[in-house]
Amino acid sequence: MLDKIDWESAINVRRSVRSYEMREVDKDSMDKLRDFINNMKAPFAHDTKIRFFKANSDKKLYSTFNSPPDGMAFISNTNIESISKVGFIGEMIILYATSLGLSTCWYGHYSIEELERIMPHLGNNKNFDSPKWGYGKGVVEGERAICISPLGYWKKEGLRLTDRVTGSLMSYKRKDINELLEGITKESLTPELLYALDLARKAPSGANSQHWRFKISSDLKTVSIAMPVGYKHIKWEHPDVDIGICACHFWLGLMMKNIECKVSLIEEKGRAVWKFQI
Ligand SMILES: Cc1cc2nc3c(=O)[nH]c(=O)nc-3n(C[C@H](O)[C@H](O)[C@H](O)COP(=O)(O)O)c2cc1C
Repeated sequence: MLDKIDWESAINVRRSVRSYEMREVDKDSMDKLRDFINNMKAPFAHDTKIRFFKANSDKKLYSTFNSPPDGMAFISNTNIESISKVGFIGEMIILYATSLGLSTCWYGHYSIEELERIMPHLGNNKNFDSPKWGYGKGVVEGERAICISPLGYWKKEGLRLTDRVTGSLMSYKRKDINELLEGITKESLTPELLYALDLARKAPSGANSQHWRFKISSDLKTVSIAMPVGYKHIKWEHPDVDIGICACHFWLGLMMKNIECKVSLIEEKGRAVWKFQI
């Protein structure tokens, strides 16, 4: 199933879209998305749940733009491993949606009050002081929507200012692989590894911070993806989500080059570390 999708094009085409036509996603695409989610096989066990919701076309859910009618939420427990897996699993779905011609935007700073109103999901954990951004931060009891994304069609005319600003300032810029490699340069890598790392570096991240670093063993058999120990971002509370997204791109890159690998994820020194054994 996974090998039938052009992941490379999906990775290159995907952009965070913040301006939508106010129409529902067509039924055929929704059916395909549901089917993909139900049959998708990840290379590790996980507890990520995907829920679709219908939203009002106002700015309550995403503070910076009007919501299109459809959206999806990525829900899991809030420990480091679970939220990093949300990045990996969520990105598979975001990229699959992209391959269907749909637009998306990873969104962590949603309004939890509005999400709970349109998609009750908090159960007994409803009574809390409303966090300012998303579910809040740190490990809390029970499951939360770690991130959400609109699902719809990019409204190309009359681009909103937010799209123009983020598009020109952040969206397209990515670091060179050599800035991300630890203890090795890209000249020493095989073409297949270089290909997978090139897709990995194109991953989206909160505020486009690209805080992933790639550590590669001298025999080129083990690749680790993690953020630097102690990394913190002033605006984005869950940087391990982005590391999972980056790991997803890398894994897809290996798969497209027919390279088999064993994937593992551990929490080490307060952050998620993804390991690929080739
Ligand atoms: C985990 C995650 C959370 C994000 N949260 C937000 C958000 O709350 N608000 C927002 O406008 N963009 C958000 N973004 C979108 C990023 O700003 C965007 O991915 C980045 O600038 C790169 O641009 P691109 O996605 O167009 O490649 C988020 C991205 C990721 C990966």
